[in-house]
Amino acid sequence: MTGTKFYADVITGATLALVVMVVLGVTSLTARAAERAVSKATQQCLDCHSVKGLEKKLANGETLALHVDGAAFAKSAHNLLGCAVCHADATLENHPPVKKKIASVRENSLAMQKVCSSCHADQFKEHEGSIHAALLREGNPVAPVCTDCHNPHAAVPKASYDVASGAPCSKCHGSVFEAYAGSVHGQARKQGRVEAPVCSTCHSAHDVKAAAGGEKIKDNCHACHSGALPAHQNWLPNAALHLKTISCAACHAPGVKRRVDLRLYDSAAQKRIAEKEGVPQFEMRARAIDTEGKGLNAIALQSLLREFSRDGMEGKAILRGRLEVDSGVEAHQLADKAKAVGQCETCHRAGSDPFQRVTISIAGPDGRLVRYGAQQEVLSSATSIDSIGGFYVIGGTRIKLLDMLVALALLVGVGVPIVHLTLGWLSRRYAKKIGGREDS
Ligand code: HEC
Ligand code: HEC
Ligand code: HEC
Ligand code: HEC
Ligand code: HEC
Ligand code: HEC
Ligand code: HEC
Ligand code: HEC
Ligand code: HEC
Repeated sequence: MTGTKFYADVITGATLALVVMVVLGVTSLTARAAERAVSKATQQCLDCHSVKGLEKKLANGETLALHVDGAAFAKSAHNLLGCAVCHADATLENHPPVKKKIASVRENSLAMQKVCSSCHADQFKEHEGSIHAALLREGNPVAPVCTDCHNPHAAVPKASYDVASGAPCSKCHGSVFEAYAGSVHGQARKQGRVEAPVCSTCHSAHDVKAAAGGEKIKDNCHACHSGALPAHQNWLPNAALHLKTISCAACHAPGVKRRVDLRLYDSAAQKRIAEKEGVPQFEMRARAIDTEGKGLNAIALQSLLREFSRDGMEGKAILRGRLEVDSGVEAHQLADKAKAVGQCETCHRAGSDPFQRVTISIAGPDGRLVRYGAQQEVLSSATSIDSIGGFYVIGGTRIKLLDMLVALALLVGVGVPIVHLTLGWLSRRYAKKIGGREDS
């Protein structure tokens, strides 16, 4: 850290910090925080607070830890700030014995994190726009505040992701971390390959968005795997379409369950239909139509679409299909390419596994999808052509009429030697190329 950068940070962030430092007589700002001992004033606070086990009983019965690791603080980026910048209300004069009323550990965290924004406005702003902050605003008791991911008394530099423990994300996303740790990416990272992604590479650290929300994560995949699209084009016809409608994990996470998710779209705006803030309709409507509670059938699905079409949108409510893994955890079980699904028949055959589970979904207010189960027949019923005509898999979803249309289109396609583009031919060619690999 250079002196100039430090000044810039503090002046733009909080003049308060500067004032405090001047008062404390911090002269050599070029000295690295890591090499500094703590100031005299800080030491006075630490005289009591570095005592292990120091704690305070709160009114609600919880205990608030009051211990601060002095050595870690001395090494941290916040050492130069001293204690008073963030704890203006705690001075040697007023405490103890003056006792501050603190309702609960969580309330304390929520109140205390506000201090971070004065110096780290950028991170604060990004965090404000995240799903985590949206959950906080809704009163979610386990959504993370700054100090869930950062120890304010041991603020460490950027490369702080802990490969072994998955901190800071694993504390709350344990099963995702386990899946990630066993994946190609987690394994590469364990071997010290820093070019492999960690949680925040794909989701970002502060501007975390709903995962199924958009194409942003996929763009990230392509940014690192720029050779992926051409590599798939070698064996997969219309690879761009396959990569668009099938999630990467559906082929690259071996042994996972897959499903088809049909997402509600506005046909004119070409955008996902989202629940209106404060008036969730989707589940209510679906439940009302699904009288037997077995999941929506083709006819029920049509009336659901009609109801949404009437909501005053530009176009009609239509469905877009996406083949994906059954759970967000499984999206992380990526394995090396030798285990990937490449057999056309995995999908392009009657009764194929991925098409046995179907969900209908809409974007919820925070971007997360709200799903409702549908019966498998919606993929094969003639009634569905109108609603899901934009998504079909030759042989897989078995909308017979569409299969015929596709076969026809393939046969009569103009300008392209498309007659050869039959599934059988491609399958054989591919099987030869990869030596008939087992499908997982
Ligand atoms: C003489 C020992 C002692 C010193 C010195 C001391 N503290 Fe404390 N501190 C305590 C005790 C004991 C409590 C718990 C008070 C209670 O139970 O309400 C406490 C509580 C706190 C709390 C929790 C909030 C509260 O007010 O209860 C903060 C924050 C804190 N101290 C910060 C500091 C800072 C900053 C300094 C230096 C300016 C400092 N302390 C100096 C003993 C000390
Ligand atoms: C960068 C700001 C910052 C600095 C510098 C800092 N603290 Fe804190 N401190 C916090 C925050 C934020 C919390 C609340 C953590 C949480 O969410 O549980 C906290 C919590 C505490 C607590 C527990 C009681 C409470 O209010 O949560 C004590 C005691 C405490 N700090 C003492 C100190 C002492 C002593 C120093 C100096 C050695 C110090 N702090 C330096 C931000 C800071
Ligand atoms: C969900 C966990 C999480 C939360 C909540 C969080 N951070 Fe971070 N933060 C991280 C991670 C992880 C990094 C490491 C940088 C990276 O991986 O991009 C980081 C990095 C930082 C950095 C170093 C500079 C940078 O951007 O890399 C600062 C400063 C910071 N966070 C401040 C904050 C503040 C202030 C808040 C609250 C408004 C906050 N963070 C909330 C996880 C979090
Ligand atoms: C008074 C200003 C100030 C406040 C308040 C403050 N910080 Fe910092 N923080 C700094 C400075 C200065 C640095 C070191 C310079 C830098 O690299 O940005 C730093 C560094 C960090 C880093 C490490 C960044 C890195 O790349 O080394 C994290 C993480 C961090 N702060 C989180 C927090 C959190 C969380 C809070 C609230 C509890 C907080 N800060 C409150 C001034 C502050
Ligand atoms: C290589 C990129 C990548 C990495 C690394 C990664 N994720 Fe994900 N994450 C994804 C994708 C892709 C999805 C699923 C998006 C979808 O549904 O299409 C996802 C989904 C999620 C979800 C939503 C789960 C659900 O139930 O729907 C959470 C939470 C999550 N990730 C957290 C994490 C955490 C924590 C880590 C680190 C241990 C991590 N991710 C690492 C790409 C990544
Ligand atoms: C203190 C707990 C906590 C921590 C730490 C935390 N999260 Fe979360 N996160 C949540 C909660 C609660 C939700 C909402 C419920 C859910 O989807 O799991 C959530 C949701 C998410 C989602 C959206 C999931 C979806 O369904 O689309 C992603 C992505 C995510 N977190 C990533 C991360 C990443 C990356 C980190 C670390 C940088 C992290 N989280 C750290 C509590 C946490
Ligand atoms: C239809 C299934 C399928 C989908 C969807 C798919 N892949 Fe693949 N992918 C494969 C197969 C099979 C291979 C191995 C081909 C081989 O061995 O030549 C492969 C190979 C790769 C490779 C190694 C490429 C190389 O240079 O050898 C990468 C990287 C990759 N895929 C990334 C992705 C990403 C990123 C996505 C999502 C955008 C994705 N894949 C979607 C089936 C798929
Ligand atoms: C930050 C860069 C980065 C991002 C982002 C990233 N990867 Fe990777 N990926 C890697 C590295 C590094 C490896 C290890 C490659 C190796 O072992 O040669 C890897 C390996 C893979 C492999 C195994 C390839 C093989 O040759 O066997 C697959 C499949 C894969 N990633 C898929 C994905 C998917 C899907 C995403 C997005 C959800 C993604 N990656 C995002 C860097 C990245
Ligand atoms: C993981 C499942 C999966 C695998 C494996 C797969 N496909 Fe597909 N394929 C699909 C889906 C889903 C669609 C429909 C996409 C849409 O209409 O949005 C599709 C569409 C097609 C189409 C129509 C493309 C167009 O331009 O409309 C052809 C041709 C095709 N696949 C051939 C193949 C061949 C040949 C293979 C093997 C080399 C293969 N597929 C492997 C799922 C798969």
